Amino acid sequence: MLIREAVTDDWPRIWPFWHRIVAAAETYTWDPDTDEQAARALWMSPAKRVYVAEDPAGTVAGSAYLTANYGGPAAHVANAGFMVDPARTGRGVGRALAEHVLAEAVRHGYRAMVFNAVVETNPAVRLWTSLGFTVLATVPEAFDHPRHGPVGLHVMHKSLP
Ligand SMILES: CC(C)(COP(=O)(O)OP(=O)(O)OC[C@H]1O[C@@H](n2cnc3c(N)ncnc32)[C@H](O)[C@@H]1OP(=O)(O)O)[C@@H](O)C(=O)NCCC(=O)NCCS
Repeated sequence: MLIREAVTDDWPRIWPFWHRIVAAAETYTWDPDTDEQAARALWMSPAKRVYVAEDPAGTVAGSAYLTANYGGPAAHVANAGFMVDPARTGRGVGRALAEHVLAEAVRHGYRAMVFNAVVETNPAVRLWTSLGFTVLATVPEAFDHPRHGPVGLHVMHKSLP
């Protein structure tokens, strides 16, 4: 699995799984009806460093972004987002992307990473915890999950390196 910086031409290969994940409304706080143009502006924003995980056949299996979570005197705190094609989950792509993005965050001088809204029922919580993130707080019943009902949103944090 090659993890590299995304180029403009990668977007059409990210959009199908981006759409599937956001439309499912189980993990992200974006509008499930977000259209392609708005999605592209959100994910491929010039303020973000975007990465893709590409298998040997050239298929994009997942994508991630790295950006500053705050500005000014707090700009050393990073934020990141991760999506793996639902047809390709459970094979280590998410962990590989996360390890790469954490290394990139250190390389670019970030001193911590914060996830602002991790749905507490998301199995990804276990992945983030195994990588050293802790739950700082949980906003109760902030997220209306289509299967679990109102669930909390974790604010998760990891000091870097
Ligand atoms: C979260 C996500 C990026 C993980 O990607 P992935 O390629 O499936 O993750 P991996 O195969 O590397 O699994 C990593 C670990 O996470 C856990 N995990 C991830 N997804 C899981 C799932 N659906 N069910 C159970 N465990 C899961 C596993 O315990 C695994 O542990 P291991 O590395 O010790 O085996 C992917 O499932 C995804 O895109 N989900 C939808 C979007 C999302 O939730 N993004 C994160 C928002 S906070």
